[in-house]
Amino acid sequence: MWVEKDPEKKNTYWPSEAMKERAWASDEAIYAEAAADPVAFWTARADELHWFKRWESAYEYAPHAYKWFVGGKTNLSYNSLDRHIEAGRGDHVAVIWEPEPVDEEAVKLTYKELHERVSRFANVLRGLGVEKGDRVGIYLPMIPEAVVAMQACARIGAPHSVVFSAFSPDSLRDRLVDAGAKVLITADGYYRRGKQIDLKKNADLGVTGSPVEKVVVVQRLDGSAPMEAGRDAWYHELMADASPDCPAEPMDAEDLAFLLYTSGTTGKPKGIMHTTGGYAVQAHTTAKWNYDLHEGDIFWCTADVGWITGHTYINYGPLLNGVTTLVYEGSPDAPDNGRFWAIIEKHKVTQLYTAPTAIRMFVKWGDEWPAKYDLSSLRLLGTVGEPINVDAWNWYFEVIGGGRCPVIDTWWQTETGANMVNSLPGIGPFVPTIAGRPFPGILGDILDSTGQPLGPGEGGYLAIFNPFPPALTRGIYGDPERFKAQYYAEYGPERYFTSDGARKDAAGNIRITGRVDDVMNVAGHRLATAEVESALAQNEKVSEVAVVSRPHDVKGEVPIAFVLLRGGIETSDDIRKELMATVNQVIGPTGRPDEIIFVPDVPKTRSGKIMRRVLKALVRNEPVGDLTTLQNPESVDKLKELVGHSA
Ligand code: WTA
Repeated sequence: MWVEKDPEKKNTYWPSEAMKERAWASDEAIYAEAAADPVAFWTARADELHWFKRWESAYEYAPHAYKWFVGGKTNLSYNSLDRHIEAGRGDHVAVIWEPEPVDEEAVKLTYKELHERVSRFANVLRGLGVEKGDRVGIYLPMIPEAVVAMQACARIGAPHSVVFSAFSPDSLRDRLVDAGAKVLITADGYYRRGKQIDLKKNADLGVTGSPVEKVVVVQRLDGSAPMEAGRDAWYHELMADASPDCPAEPMDAEDLAFLLYTSGTTGKPKGIMHTTGGYAVQAHTTAKWNYDLHEGDIFWCTADVGWITGHTYINYGPLLNGVTTLVYEGSPDAPDNGRFWAIIEKHKVTQLYTAPTAIRMFVKWGDEWPAKYDLSSLRLLGTVGEPINVDAWNWYFEVIGGGRCPVIDTWWQTETGANMVNSLPGIGPFVPTIAGRPFPGILGDILDSTGQPLGPGEGGYLAIFNPFPPALTRGIYGDPERFKAQYYAEYGPERYFTSDGARKDAAGNIRITGRVDDVMNVAGHRLATAEVESALAQNEKVSEVAVVSRPHDVKGEVPIAFVLLRGGIETSDDIRKELMATVNQVIGPTGRPDEIIFVPDVPKTRSGKIMRRVLKALVRNEPVGDLTTLQNPESVDKLKELVGHSA
């Protein structure tokens, strides 16, 4: 047993003695110690990694320009691979890859084998003209080459920009253009729910009109994908000719490590910048402490590599810690609803890290699926991405964790690069809907809109204070003004505004209540209502469109689109299908509205702004509130009928 039930409080658990003994932090005093000198705390953590040259100053602050480990030289790939090989752990398994088709064998790569592939591929990239500082696009499914490609980029100091493989060609192109990527790494396809997905077709469309000059294609399917002469080359052919010797490039701690595009409140995604040293330190430490990583562990993070969770907890976090990371290609319902549990039994997974939306789906599928498998290898469970409800938490804890394993609910963002707020496995508490305290060395609190700290139980906004955590984003690529406006306008340059609502209890444990801006979490995918709006607006039949989120029992939230068609166009199911196709083309399936409601008018203020607040209330069946500032209050009655609103 790794947890004990609180004898007095319902739904509250604490680490058992056994858990405390093995955990990296089990003394409550760590919080006060780290808070008294966060820079000293992180410096001690940085000393656990390899530095080609030690830093001259650990932390430097200037408004909108904070830096960690200034003057230090390190490398993410060296720390993920070479360091373990030098310590005699080269034969430990680094990656287990589980293909979706059940008749295909799993692939295991030791640290030595992964090191060789990464080194070869780093040389391949150099051979294609990639130099330190050049951005490289990655559009890959969940195959081991996704890890190889990211590590190879890190090895030569070429920042990667990974684009989720289910994103559309248009989304891919936008990101390649913004990043100025000259090389793209993709695959011919992959398996999803038993079907072969043609990724090369999307990659070809996305590359057209982008600065990409060379495309490397990993063969996952039958190799029949069309290749463009002079531009495209097969990964395996390039690898066969490449030297396996490629020393890691000593990178400045503040050199760009990668870009990752995420949704803001506008229709245009932003390229979040993460630098090398600080990111390495926080990724390493949070992976180690939060998931209780020890030699021999088999850690499974079920996110896609296209999201920050995949970057930090499939690739860098576990590999920096020298444990085994499991990569699963496919869907949780292939070939049946028991696949996740079959994988855990087969590979003896020790820690599982997944999203509440997945857990809610498993609850719906029923206990009979996990019941068929032996899940006793599990020691710890994690969740991320959205607030978790009490029932889903309890199910996860009881049915998957067998009542033995702590559930670590981690709050963080693409911008923070690594976990920020959660209970520690050796300290607790583990309570449904409560993430916990800011990680040691991270200062943060709940503030009101004027920046005053709030007391226990009072709802406000979560903010993070200077000295900022080492992995916190250093900026938005090519858009320093948006960076300042988005994160540092609210409370000034010394307090990072998270855009999340939150409250804390008397012990300082934080409950995240959700985004306070127009960013949604749809089945664990971050998406702005404005992105869906601008996608729909690209269809010429659309005159006006407003998108709001509606709560959903499995996906957490879903987009609902209110669409006003151009004059003379009749509404029909065909148009609805066409609009769905438009969203598919512009964003990809993740952006598809749950419902499209055709309306004769949308509520607007006198200055002509759409009142999304009213639409949001309507789809949630809540009171619409004050309508006196509307230009067209009569529109609301009609809308009430259309959405079946009764409040
Ligand atoms: C939400 C994902 C509640 C939050 C790592 C945040 C959460 C957004 C949690 C970032 C959690 C993430 N509890 N909400 N444990 N974790 N969120 O950038 O609204 O894809 O701002 O990063 O997800 O989403 P992103």
